Amino acid sequence: MLFSSCTAALALGLVALVSAQDTTFEPLDFNITDALLDQGVNISALPELESLVTRSSTAGCSIACDSLRILFGSSSVIKQSDASYNGFTDSYWSAQQGSVDPFCIFKPSNAPSVSIAILISRLTQCPFAAKSGGHAAFAGASNIEGGITISLERLDTVQLSGNKKTADVGPGNKWFDVYTALQPSGVTVIGGRVSGIGVGGLTTGGGISFFSNIYGWACDNVASYEVVTASGLIITASPSENSDLYWALRGGGNNFGIVSKFTMNAISLPGGQMWGGGRVILEDNFDAVVNAFYNVGVNSPSDPNAAQILSFAYVPSADLKVAAADLQYAKPVANAPIFSEYLAIPAISDTTRVRTLADLTQEFNASNPDGLRETYWAATYKLNKAHTAKVRDIFFEEIQSIKDAAGLVPAATLQVITQGQLAAMSKNGGNPLGLPASNGPYLLLNMNMMWTNPADDTRILQCNQRIIDRTVALGKSMGLFEDYIYMNYASQYQDVIASYGATNKAKLQSIAAKYDPTGVFQTLEPGYFKLNGPPVSGKP
Ligand SMILES: Cc1cc2nc3c(=O)[nH]c(=O)nc-3n(C[C@H](O)[C@H](O)[C@H](O)COP(=O)(O)OP(=O)(O)OC[C@H]3O[C@@H](n4cnc5c(N)ncnc54)[C@H](O)[C@@H]3O)c2cc1C
Ligand SMILES: *[C@@H]1O[C@H](CO)[C@@H](O)[C@H](O)[C@H]1NC(C)=O
Ligand SMILES: *[C@@H]1O[C@H](CO)[C@@H](O)[C@H](O)[C@H]1NC(C)=O
Ligand SMILES: *[C@@H]1O[C@H](CO)[C@@H](O)[C@H](O)[C@H]1NC(C)=O
Repeated sequence: MLFSSCTAALALGLVALVSAQDTTFEPLDFNITDALLDQGVNISALPELESLVTRSSTAGCSIACDSLRILFGSSSVIKQSDASYNGFTDSYWSAQQGSVDPFCIFKPSNAPSVSIAILISRLTQCPFAAKSGGHAAFAGASNIEGGITISLERLDTVQLSGNKKTADVGPGNKWFDVYTALQPSGVTVIGGRVSGIGVGGLTTGGGISFFSNIYGWACDNVASYEVVTASGLIITASPSENSDLYWALRGGGNNFGIVSKFTMNAISLPGGQMWGGGRVILEDNFDAVVNAFYNVGVNSPSDPNAAQILSFAYVPSADLKVAAADLQYAKPVANAPIFSEYLAIPAISDTTRVRTLADLTQEFNASNPDGLRETYWAATYKLNKAHTAKVRDIFFEEIQSIKDAAGLVPAATLQVITQGQLAAMSKNGGNPLGLPASNGPYLLLNMNMMWTNPADDTRILQCNQRIIDRTVALGKSMGLFEDYIYMNYASQYQDVIASYGATNKAKLQSIAAKYDPTGVFQTLEPGYFKLNGPPVSGKP
């Protein structure tokens, strides 16, 4: 066997060695061939790889994919000629990501296999991407043209600890599977609000949940991470072990390694029961909606069980402006008093009811179908009622120029980053997001649009850019601007890591230099929000 069953033990041995060395995650004379041997892979038995190492070749990805296929078999490595290839690329949420064609797709079933893939990428200089739920919108975020797309789908463990205080969750899960698996035990974890979203991207970028006003974001509720590093080590990051890496992973994205397991804090949710749904409101009540949104946001500390997502949207077919107020309560209690202002506003439809968490995430999944063209944008401002109303008005003004685009569904989705969410960001040594609690609460804007015709891409992206620019300029003029850009909602033109502040950016760079001294996750995994700038420079 090339790939010995003792790889896990070898990996454990490496962890022990690393703790002893303490600071050196990759020695200067690091030898990839030897590192592969440590993982049970002898490249002499992979003829193309061996000749590549001795003779050098330009066919890196062909060799990398062939080698992975020899090691792991055709059920784990999909090539372009395989029948299942198109089904895989169709599984991305956005059409832009689905149109990216990797040289091959690798489906590792454990952390040592992830390690081997990273080392083979280094040896062949074939670039890679990592995919969890595939919901990042722009091309190349979790798929890679001509490279190896590492699909984490088989890392799908959901394992509650004996004392029910934590759950081990693999990055191959979608939140629906996590919530469904935990529900019989009367617990859940802090995660996504739409069933089909992946654990990996949401948690490494932040992660706003229905329960975040009580417990904080997903990234602030990870007790520890199991991470595969650039040199193929499998290490733990927690408040007590590699605590600098733990800090970096709480929102630093895919810049430090591939997380192969999240150990998440478990919270009590008997029977999975809560309350929630959506109320759709017409234009004559838009001012009342903004008032209700603002008040639920600022009053959140008085009842943090309550959560809200407010979207202003336009329905071109009916030339109709609507507000969708999605309201949630962390207990099976209908119509909690904190929502009274919202509930007094007439709604043309209302799906709120007592139901399970998993069921509520299915309702929101239904309004986010796969396969359309998509764009997401983010901006943050200190919460102010007059500014929030202006954000709404700017959105409706700007979409006039694109409303004839085929299949267009444009929305400005508003959330409050509440004092409760901000307080949790500082526990266990804090996170790198650079959001000062003292200036909160904040308004988080997520511009999002779906459409169908690629010919409309540029003008739709430009429209989003204008909405962000105008609401930011207004925020600045009102003394409300906050430069934080939420990674999970950001567009490819936005510099997320810089938005965390110069000090945090420098700290993230030095942590990356320690765990990944040659910059594997900056250059060989080029997609998504890297440390040195946005995925695409300039404006659309
Ligand atoms: C319909 C919809 C609903 C959403 N709802 C919410 C919500 O409720 N709350 C919220 O906060 N956000 C939400 N988001 C935003 C969401 O968090 C981001 O889109 C996120 O990137 C999706 O994660 P994913 O795993 O599905 O994406 P992917 O595209 O698979 O991954 C995104 C990025 O994360 C990296 N990554 C994934 N797994 C790992 C890993 N294990 N280790 C290292 N890097 C990894 C990938 O390489 C990629 O660069 C939503 C998005 C959509 C489209
Ligand atoms: C790595 O080690 C192998 C022996 O295991 C050796 O043959 C090879 O030359 C080394 N590679 C480099 C780049 O030093
Ligand atoms: C690797 O394989 C080659 C050829 O099969 C063999 O000669 C060599 O001893 C092996 N190396 C190790 C370290 O097992
Ligand atoms: C979410 O919706 C997508 C697209 O409609 C669908 O393919 C997927 O199965 C849904 N996810 C879950 C967990 O039901």
